[in-house]
Amino acid sequence: ASGLITLDPGYKNSGSCKSGITFLDGELGILRYRGYAIEDLAEKSNFLEVSYLIIFGELPTAAQLHQFEEDIRKYTLVNEEMKNIIDGFPKTAHPMGVLSALTSALTAFNPKSVNVDNSAEMYEAVCKTMGKFLVIATWTYRKSMGFPLNYYDNTKGYVENFMRLMFELPTGPYAANPVVINALDKLFILHADHEQNCSTSTVRMVGSSHAGLFASISAGVSALWGPLHGGANQAVLEMLEEIYKTGGDAEKYLAKAKDKNDPFRLMGFGHRVYKNFDPRAKIIKKAADEVLGTLGVQDPILDIAKKLEAAALEDDYFKSRNLYPNVDFYSGIIYRALGIPTDMFTVMFAIGRLPGWIAQWKEMRENKEPIGRPRQVYVGHPLREFKR
Ligand code: SDX
Repeated sequence: ASGLITLDPGYKNSGSCKSGITFLDGELGILRYRGYAIEDLAEKSNFLEVSYLIIFGELPTAAQLHQFEEDIRKYTLVNEEMKNIIDGFPKTAHPMGVLSALTSALTAFNPKSVNVDNSAEMYEAVCKTMGKFLVIATWTYRKSMGFPLNYYDNTKGYVENFMRLMFELPTGPYAANPVVINALDKLFILHADHEQNCSTSTVRMVGSSHAGLFASISAGVSALWGPLHGGANQAVLEMLEEIYKTGGDAEKYLAKAKDKNDPFRLMGFGHRVYKNFDPRAKIIKKAADEVLGTLGVQDPILDIAKKLEAAALEDDYFKSRNLYPNVDFYSGIIYRALGIPTDMFTVMFAIGRLPGWIAQWKEMRENKEPIGRPRQVYVGHPLREFKR
């Protein structure tokens, strides 16, 4: 439970790595950021404080946290020429595709790869990334709606700005609802890092060639988009909506998920590491009840989710394979209650995961890890003589 494991000396070429950022225990359903339990952080902290902890290794003092928020504000103005890039996309472009492109484009405006050994330079790169990524992430939504792009308001908080950037219209100011801001803040904390998942490993792999931070994060955005990874939260809602529209028969969809001849999987269930409850799913399920209750939202989709979860947890196929709800099973229900459109759900995941990507990239470069080069087991032809 100390989280320290021994790696074989060949780990340098195996694609696995040593990291001191996040500890998972899949059997016990434990998740800790820099040694702090996710339950404590979700309950008592806030997203920027957790981002600072994950990236710099220690909880900030009140003064450091205040300065961190101020320093992020210095970089929330995105180069106006980036609008030419976003104008090049059709309204129908998926927000994750636009986000990956815009993040990569930020490399063009920040070509100098940060010197990770220079703490001031690295701190500036962290603030710049946290500031600009939030804004361009919301621009993907504004683009899809044909709305004018919004600017960050330096008089407001980071998470409140997300809602303003998304929903404030020229016709009037966005009225922040503390229940919504608190729920989002908690959701971002729960997504902030998760050890060597697919997108984080991608960020580390791309960064190991000494590609810049924005270029590495752009690759992480693309990896996260997949429906088996971060795209699952959108797939969960689409699955639940389909179950609802076809009469709410959970057992029918469980049967489909168990049928090996049917490609359908129960989205939001199962995990590569957790063979017990994903601790984040428990917290999000509780938050879903609280948020929908406080907002007075009656969502039949939540009832379908609970019915499906209960049936799956009783089902031998799922129990025998240790398949439990994961972080994506309930998150989309809260996003939907907050008025966030389904195709923005994975963008929400990316905003939450950003501090983890930054921290893992920074750790990999500070550790001067060699360029990633996993080896293979060759199963192809033996030597053959060339003749026609
Ligand atoms: C995330 O890595 C991370 O940490 C990721 C993440 C993060 O924070 O970064 O936690 C975020 O990506 C969560 C996962 C979101 N994805 C989904 O919810 C998609 C649905 N889940 C599955 O596709 C699946 O569970 C995976 C992809 C998550 C894991 O796939 P694996 O590793 O192949 O699952 P497994 O080896 O544990 O499968 C064991 C068995 C297999 O059946 P058998 O061959 O034994 O008969 O369970 C079956 C699988 O077919 N199975 C499922 C299933 N998940 C696994 N059957 C039906 N529905 C499912 N969801």
